[in-house]
Amino acid sequence: MTFKTLDDLSDIAGKRVLVRVDLNVPMDGGKVADTTRIERVLPTIHELSEKGAKVILLAHFGRPKGQRVADMSLEPVAQPLADLLLAPVDFADDCVGKSAEDAIAELSDGDVLLLENTRFHAGEEKNDPAFAKDLAELGDIYVNDAFSAAHRAHGSTEGIAELLPAYAGRTMQAELEALGSALGEPKRPVLAVVGGAKVSSKIDLLENLVGKVDMLVIGGGMANTFMAANGINVGKSLCEHDLADTARRIMAAAEKSGCEIVLPADAVVAREFKAGAENETVTLDAIPSDAMMLDVGSASIAKIAEKIDAANTLVWNGPLGAFEIAPFDKATVAAARHAAERTKSGKLNSVAGGGDTVAALNHAGAADDFSYVSTAGGAFLEWLEGKELPGVKALEA
Ligand code: 3PG
Ligand code: MG
Repeated sequence: MTFKTLDDLSDIAGKRVLVRVDLNVPMDGGKVADTTRIERVLPTIHELSEKGAKVILLAHFGRPKGQRVADMSLEPVAQPLADLLLAPVDFADDCVGKSAEDAIAELSDGDVLLLENTRFHAGEEKNDPAFAKDLAELGDIYVNDAFSAAHRAHGSTEGIAELLPAYAGRTMQAELEALGSALGEPKRPVLAVVGGAKVSSKIDLLENLVGKVDMLVIGGGMANTFMAANGINVGKSLCEHDLADTARRIMAAAEKSGCEIVLPADAVVAREFKAGAENETVTLDAIPSDAMMLDVGSASIAKIAEKIDAANTLVWNGPLGAFEIAPFDKATVAAARHAAERTKSGKLNSVAGGGDTVAALNHAGAADDFSYVSTAGGAFLEWLEGKELPGVKALEA
């Protein structure tokens, strides 16, 4: 797909540019607990501000369902944003109407203003044309820099893009380019690593991937469902036995399209789900009936490393084991570091994202060395499912 970027914008001094950003950051005791998403939107804001635009930020926060909910205000995010931007950020306590209009009227060229949570208005999630029009009237140009909210067809992500000249911001652009290089026109062979707890949440994703990638490593709790479908006794492991047919269907589809599925070769098992729980590594025919698999062992790690070495492109979503509780983070950490090394030496294009994937890669100290780590959760998953994202579609030139 083609879309316009900030390169296509000229003469924006004095123009009111509405920039959709994702500031849906985790909070802890009223303070921003992780600033990654804030850092990602800085380049676009800087660039527009330096060119003299009046930068007006649109964002959602939490899921207030169309009501004003005090602890879902974006106000506590304005100062952390200003600190990272090294410039003041004004705040208006509504995203449409008089308070937004007044705040915008006060802006000088290059100033930055954050508007209150778009989801305080029911029209946002309903993608109500009247709400989108109220938003659009506040600006001359629309820039979407929020890939991670692009799976939502909302007023500030989709509706408004139809009403104003629309452009992709730098982070949106980087995201689309990285994702395109991983699944659009990738350098083969392509390896996908998919982990996480449940097959049920990733059926569409697995079905899409087996038709697109050359190798698919399945790890985490969801691997147990596949192993059980292959007749392996997984003991007390997390397992969706009712999805055995689905797992078999996915494996058959993979075989048909020439995608090699790589399942665990051994198992790290324990009797309790807790950090430091007593554990042992066993072969797949020896999983005790009263134990559960919390990670894969060294034979599996070696096999995964071999696949990473064979690949030119890697797409990663989800941990391989219970990485939150040591020592069951071992396989995830080893595989992530191996992929990071291959990337650093120029042999691998590695793209990761979705849910706790970023946390897992950060935990492994590997995130900085991946080619691209998306901060998107649901949007990354929908993209892996092969779905068209409405917020991206609306930018199509
Ligand atoms: C996210 O946190 O994944 C995005 O900001 C989207 O939020 P949502 O899932 O509430 O739409
Ligand atoms: Mg989400």
